[in-house]
Amino acid sequence: MRFHHIVVLTGAGISAESGIKTFRDHNGLWENHRIEDVATPEGFARDPALVHQFYNQRRAQLLDPKLKPNAAHLALARFEQQHKAKGGRFLLISQNVDNLHQRAGSESVIAMHGQLQKIKCPVTGKNQSWLKDLTAADLCHCCKTAQPLRPDIVWFGEMPYQMDECVDALMQADLFISIGTSGQVYPAAGFVQIAAESGAHTVELNMEPTRGDFAEGYYGPAAKIVPAYLSKLS
Ligand code: APR
Repeated sequence: MRFHHIVVLTGAGISAESGIKTFRDHNGLWENHRIEDVATPEGFARDPALVHQFYNQRRAQLLDPKLKPNAAHLALARFEQQHKAKGGRFLLISQNVDNLHQRAGSESVIAMHGQLQKIKCPVTGKNQSWLKDLTAADLCHCCKTAQPLRPDIVWFGEMPYQMDECVDALMQADLFISIGTSGQVYPAAGFVQIAAESGAHTVELNMEPTRGDFAEGYYGPAAKIVPAYLSKLS
């Protein structure tokens, strides 16, 4: 086994071929919405209806029977099983809030930016699964004064989930693979540096090279290059 402890980071690019828009490509989500309006606590306080509409549309897309994990999601799930069966360690950290990794069968997944199909109380942080539209009328049951529930999404200016576990894994990894992310949003954009400084080999699989400093890179559509790369690793 060439690499024992593998950490993978994914971004919107791995879900693009499943039909989910990325953020910064042409016609991406940030071309049609201002981040400060729909992806910050201040935006939610200012106009909750706009924020609910933005996430309700994206959550509804996950229920579309045409939306499926693509070959890249499936290859990652298969590789994880095979690698663990040989005694290897594997962690998938995703910036994506869709559920395609989980639907593909990935098990060790950290959804560091939250999940579209979860909502939470803004005061206690208690979260729950939620598949339908969320409105300002949907209130929590955990507070004495019921609070309007919010999407369980990590907004700009908020701390991503399970960062300690992410950094621990990156510092122990001997292989770090970044897939389908532009590397423009921290702390995820800094993961390659943490891994490299801890001695890991670093690989970028993306449509095109980004600013990240990787030891190796393969470029093209994820559904093609991810299965190809992982089959060489197995
Ligand atoms: N195959 C591989 N890579 C692709 C594909 C594809 N089919 N399509 C697009 N890409 C690449 C793009 O070249 C780009 O580098 O995926 C990357 C997508 O970048 P972004 O749209 O910036 O998405 P991401 O990196 O996931 O954004 C990070 O920013 O807005 C926040 O919270 C949001 O999690 C998101 C974070």
